[in-house]
Amino acid sequence: MALHVSDLTPVEAEPVHTRFRRIVTSIPAPQSVEEIRRLREFEPQSMAGMPPILWDSAEGFLVRDPYGNQWIDLSSGIVVANVGHAHPDLLAAIRAQLDAKLIFSYAFATKVRRELLQRLVAIAPHGMNKTILFSSGTEANECALSLMRKHGLQQAPAKLGIVSIESSYHGRTLSAKLAGGPPGPIDGISRESLSQWQLPLPGGPDSRGFDEDLASRGIVPKAVAGIILESMPGWTTTLYPQPYMQRLMQWAAAHNVLVTMDEVQCGIGRTGRMFAFEHYGVVPDLITCGKGLSSSLPVSAVIGREAILNLASPGDMSSTFGGNPVCAAAALECLNIIEREKLVERSARLGEELGAALERLAARHRVHVKSHNGRGLFYSVHLNNPAIGDEIVMGCIRRGVLMFLTGRGFFKIVPPLTIDRDALFEAIGVIGEVMDERLK
Ligand SMILES: Cc1ncc(COP(=O)(O)O)c(C=O)c1O
Repeated sequence: MALHVSDLTPVEAEPVHTRFRRIVTSIPAPQSVEEIRRLREFEPQSMAGMPPILWDSAEGFLVRDPYGNQWIDLSSGIVVANVGHAHPDLLAAIRAQLDAKLIFSYAFATKVRRELLQRLVAIAPHGMNKTILFSSGTEANECALSLMRKHGLQQAPAKLGIVSIESSYHGRTLSAKLAGGPPGPIDGISRESLSQWQLPLPGGPDSRGFDEDLASRGIVPKAVAGIILESMPGWTTTLYPQPYMQRLMQWAAAHNVLVTMDEVQCGIGRTGRMFAFEHYGVVPDLITCGKGLSSSLPVSAVIGREAILNLASPGDMSSTFGGNPVCAAAALECLNIIEREKLVERSARLGEELGAALERLAARHRVHVKSHNGRGLFYSVHLNNPAIGDEIVMGCIRRGVLMFLTGRGFFKIVPPLTIDRDALFEAIGVIGEVMDERLK
């Protein structure tokens, strides 16, 4: 039976007791319903899109409620906990920063901010020698969009347009929303009125190639300052066709157009490379990071060459909480953990096995599975009947496997890169059981 997110009626669940999963109540747990209801009383409905579980603790790849239920987490929260939830070394780094009694600094100098910036420059491609820190992925993208416009305006007054990809996601501020989302006005504003154009998904059914797509939208280089794209789109988890990307980079270089790769979701080891754009063998002008960068506290970053990052004057590009010392300590330790535990390589290796397992799953349900794509631990399964996606997620939740609801006919498999191999494939087995039952 489907369980709508606004419906908090507990649905009976078979008890589950395995090494990793424990389900001992109906779902949602009857004891949690009042708390969730009260939360919803004070929050707008926009916040009510996730499965009705009351999170009590999250550790490694396990999420627990206060009532004895425990899930294998295939969500990483929302593709955040790359090193796992509450990694002990991450907790220790955060605690050490708290104990140092420096938990806020604005743009005043701190050693921990310098260490993180230096580290980000070290993992970025050669020549990208400046980084600025913010709190959210949206802010990082907003900054990148502004830098690209400043760069274009230096060349000509009309060279301020931005090109992006339809139905991508770059965040919730106005510029980020104009760049992302499906075609159509944003908050009543038409994209074209603000020199923002979208191209169809490269490799998707509506794309005929980079030049053809530009032409079909009437986009001319003299009006374009920059292109922003998710290196791997979060909703399809596919790589764009290699010739498309090659051509896009060539065109941008020829017309002095900057390219920002949004790595907020797909970066920091998620796809089996430190940055997902490495799959194409190309180097963008700006990289934006967030989410897995700290695997926990709010940290985001824009990385690029000095000539571009310095386009903003002193005091013209900063943020009150950007580079907060506690957040910076978390991000720095997160990058240390990724290196120490070789999580980029692990993501690539486990991803190969995950891809094969999903291929077997899709083969069992050819009629229902439209596609399944991914690299590393960044996979999605898309269904022909969009109504079924969230039902499958809820079915999995009632069996101790946690994913988030997408409302768009697909579910995502994006566990912590540290997930125990047996737990990952136990969870995939559960998805298989739920699909067998629902789709038989
Ligand atoms: C690709 C991408 N860019 C930007 C963002 C926005 O990040 P935040 O929610 O931290 O503002 C997200 C968040 O989901 C994302 O997936």
